[in-house]
Amino acid sequence: MTAADANTARPAGSTATAVPGTPAGSPGLLARHRAVLPDWLALYYDDPLEITHGEGRHVWDAAGRKYLDFFGGILTTMTAHALPAVAEAVTGQAGRLLHSSTLYLNRPMVELAERIARLSGIPDARVFFTTSGTEANDTALLLATTHRRSNQILAMRNSYHGRSFSTVSVTGNRGWSPTSLSPLQTLYVHGGVRHRGPYADLDDAAFTAACVADLRDLLGHVRSPAALIAEPVQGVGGFTSPPDGLYAAFREVLAEQGVLWIADEVQTGWGRTGDHFWGWQAHAGSGPPDIVTFAKGIGNGMSVGGVIARAEIMNCLDANSISTFGGTQVTMAAALANLDHLLEHDLQGNARRVGGLLLKRLRDACAGLPGVKEVRGRGLMIGVELVRPGTHLAAPEAAAAVLEAAREGGLLLGKGGGHDTSALRIAPPLSLTAAEAEEGAAILEQALRRVAG
Ligand SMILES: Cc1ncc(COP(=O)(O)O)c(C=O)c1O
Repeated sequence: MTAADANTARPAGSTATAVPGTPAGSPGLLARHRAVLPDWLALYYDDPLEITHGEGRHVWDAAGRKYLDFFGGILTTMTAHALPAVAEAVTGQAGRLLHSSTLYLNRPMVELAERIARLSGIPDARVFFTTSGTEANDTALLLATTHRRSNQILAMRNSYHGRSFSTVSVTGNRGWSPTSLSPLQTLYVHGGVRHRGPYADLDDAAFTAACVADLRDLLGHVRSPAALIAEPVQGVGGFTSPPDGLYAAFREVLAEQGVLWIADEVQTGWGRTGDHFWGWQAHAGSGPPDIVTFAKGIGNGMSVGGVIARAEIMNCLDANSISTFGGTQVTMAAALANLDHLLEHDLQGNARRVGGLLLKRLRDACAGLPGVKEVRGRGLMIGVELVRPGTHLAAPEAAAAVLEAAREGGLLLGKGGGHDTSALRIAPPLSLTAAEAEEGAAILEQALRRVAG
């Protein structure tokens, strides 16, 4: 997982050690986790949870307790837990061949690349498979900087693009960017966060105009950047997004200098936002991005990430490049089965319908709660922004308390929102039913009333 969303449960400098014969179950496991894994690999909850199995939109912990899952392992269980079609594809492929390397033809990889190229809307698209969103964005940065012969990158404030050396340096969130050393020179642009910052009080049109003016001004001061990288809806940043059309307006300005647009669809792709298959389509005024990156949901838990780009961009590297585990047969088989299920069951439409119900239900529930500033989102990507009652100040302690209270009620949530982590994040599998949405909303309402009422 990206720890990108986690709540530190471990005191710094914990000295717990693994004791042979430690009792089975989560208490013993927590001590072993703390003894052997990095301190920065944070866990949710005061009493961290071990999930042992799942089905549909539910998971069970090691003590046998059942939870409704509104976070899907950070938007990665995209269709459903233990989806039979994916499980069968994995076991079937695993029984034949797990891996052959990119040195040999790989039928499921070619098939998935063909499907994704068609779905991307990018003309003459090429697809390169990686094992994670980080590696996908790292590849996109390599392509853009090589194609444009520039190491300057524009990125959004409050963004998250991964954990590698290149991706932390385009991540505009100090809580997730442990070093500023970088081969890139990154310039941060306004616009990713609608509800905070100097332009928050403007209406949508004025907000967009101010951000475009800021971008144009910035471009007047620097050499020619390679690309702008942006999440259409910021994930770790708390499910916040600019007004529709902002990135199309940015694109017109960027195009004047040939600056590329990289859409990081790691959280927003595959219909998650309901209205669109890709998040960038809310900004489609001037056509698809030059480069799209994806990961998380497409493999439903198998490690599938990738980059889509026009052939002239993808083919600009003049040296070999492989990802040993990118596109292995077993991960491709899982992704193909998962994509089939998603499209055959119109889960994008379900995200729009059920997400719309859930958004309205939560807005009604939160109306008048002084600790809730905003309920925002689209599709099954909903953020609830918590503040100290009567102020605009972030309330990370309230977000952590709501997470705990919801868990007690049998509901798993996420949180995020920049370094202050004061937004709840709701992103269940896209097959969520209306009844499950209501069940989760009722538990969340109770938790919010307890903490933020
Ligand atoms: C928008 C976005 N980009 C990139 C990443 C990195 O993906 P991964 O954790 O698979 O490396 C994440 C992970 O949370 C993400 O949310």
